[in-house]
Amino acid sequence: KSKFPLKEMLNRELTQLSETSRSGNQVSEFIASTILQKQHDVEILSAACKEEKKRRPMSQISGVRKLSPSPSLPPTCTPRFGVNTQHESLLAEELEDINRWGIDIFKIAEFSGNRPLTVIMYTIFQERDLLKTFKIPSDTFLTFLMTLEDHYHVDMAYHNNTHAADVVQSTHVLLSTPALEDVFTDLEIMAALFASAIHDVDHPGLSNQFLINTNSELALMYNDASVLENHHLAVGFKLLQEENCDIFCNLSKKQRQSLRQMTIDMVLATDMSKHMNFLADLKTLVETKKVTSLGVLLLDNYSDRIQVLQNMVHCADLSNPTKPLELYRQWTDRIMVELFRQGDRERDKGIDISPMCDKHTASVEKSQVGFIDYIVHPLWETWADLVHPDAQDILDTLEDNREWYQSMIPRSPSPTPKEQDSRATLGIAGSAGEKFQFELTLEEEDGELEAEEEHTDKDRSSTMMDPRHAQTSPRGVAPVLDSRERELDQEATSVSILQLET
Ligand code: CMP
Ligand code: MG
Ligand code: ZN
Repeated sequence: KSKFPLKEMLNRELTQLSETSRSGNQVSEFIASTILQKQHDVEILSAACKEEKKRRPMSQISGVRKLSPSPSLPPTCTPRFGVNTQHESLLAEELEDINRWGIDIFKIAEFSGNRPLTVIMYTIFQERDLLKTFKIPSDTFLTFLMTLEDHYHVDMAYHNNTHAADVVQSTHVLLSTPALEDVFTDLEIMAALFASAIHDVDHPGLSNQFLINTNSELALMYNDASVLENHHLAVGFKLLQEENCDIFCNLSKKQRQSLRQMTIDMVLATDMSKHMNFLADLKTLVETKKVTSLGVLLLDNYSDRIQVLQNMVHCADLSNPTKPLELYRQWTDRIMVELFRQGDRERDKGIDISPMCDKHTASVEKSQVGFIDYIVHPLWETWADLVHPDAQDILDTLEDNREWYQSMIPRSPSPTPKEQDSRATLGIAGSAGEKFQFELTLEEEDGELEAEEEHTDKDRSSTMMDPRHAQTSPRGVAPVLDSRERELDQEATSVSILQLET
């Protein structure tokens, strides 16, 4: 038996999905390129090298810039939320929701004069009393935060300071989940928030694969391994050395070492090509989960503790589709702007355009449904199992949002002859626009299960009886489907089968 059954099964599912239709193929390529480290054969043109800026010595971390004017504030005049703003009362109103999933981070960005990362971190560290606990001088804290925030690119549609602030605030809420009450130490909590804050700093809006394919300086520096994530970490830690930026100056040597190790582990775990490995391990942890007499999770070794923290930050990073729809839609618009910009550069260079990056052919709605079915839902469903029943509302929102994007997929004008053939075989009447009840397909699910029997027989007997799984699989939330949706949804069902394997 292979060491990575999850990967193998997903690979098989994606191959099938890619054969269903052109857009199925597009979605499949997108998922595969996101998490399976699938190499695309890209012709490296000599032009690719020219574009890179002046050569820099390898001994230097390229992202660190000198900023003027200095963002530091005299310690005597610290404003209420750490930044000067003309909308302090509006900001205060929004920040009252600091402990809530789905806070309006875009409003916070607006009311803080584009300082969401600084105000979110400052508010959370005060709420958690971390400045006092670790004797962090507040002027140093704010100087560091503003410097860090300035190293997110302002012109970046998605990977900017607002995304960082969003991940920090999401991690903050996840840390407070009842199942983890008093489980993590203050140092671990601070590390998780710090890791979230730096996790995408100096992001160039290009994927690891793009950086590798174009022989970028960054890929060279990190030997093609978690290129961006290594860079975010290096920049994040390097900024602590700027003037009045060492927020950890009063930690003991041991605390600093431990915090650094945890931060590295968490940020490296945000590399999407590691997703399947982390998900598989999380499933194993859930299966063997132990609870203390107080009813919280028992995590009695570093490996288990860091694993939960790594998955927590990864969940926060993949939390857009679990947020109220109006927020989720803004994030989708932003990621598409960034992906299309990369696609434009690939077109200009004459290299293959990455999946979902071609503005002329991408299907935004389908890619979101695929992203949820294959990546986000399997992860969140497992997290929800870990902290059961704390994350039920989050899972419900995710499923509602999936349905919304599914309903927004433009109808294809008419079925192809091949589709009509298979419709006839399946006894489905009507045109592509018509719908049928999904009960029709339930029998097939059993059939598919039989096919997987050899792999899942043992696990299934315990997990399939659990009604939660029936409710939370992507299939379970799709009562009415047309044939194209059904194709995608069938694959989703197989993926929920796939979730049973660890
Ligand atoms: P990053 O934030 O570095 O890590 C998680 C990645 O998941 C993110 O970059 C995107 O590449 C991807 N991602 C997050 N949200 C979405 C989304 N809504 N649609 C497509 N991809 C996404
Ligand atoms: Mg990242
Ligand atoms: Zn991110």
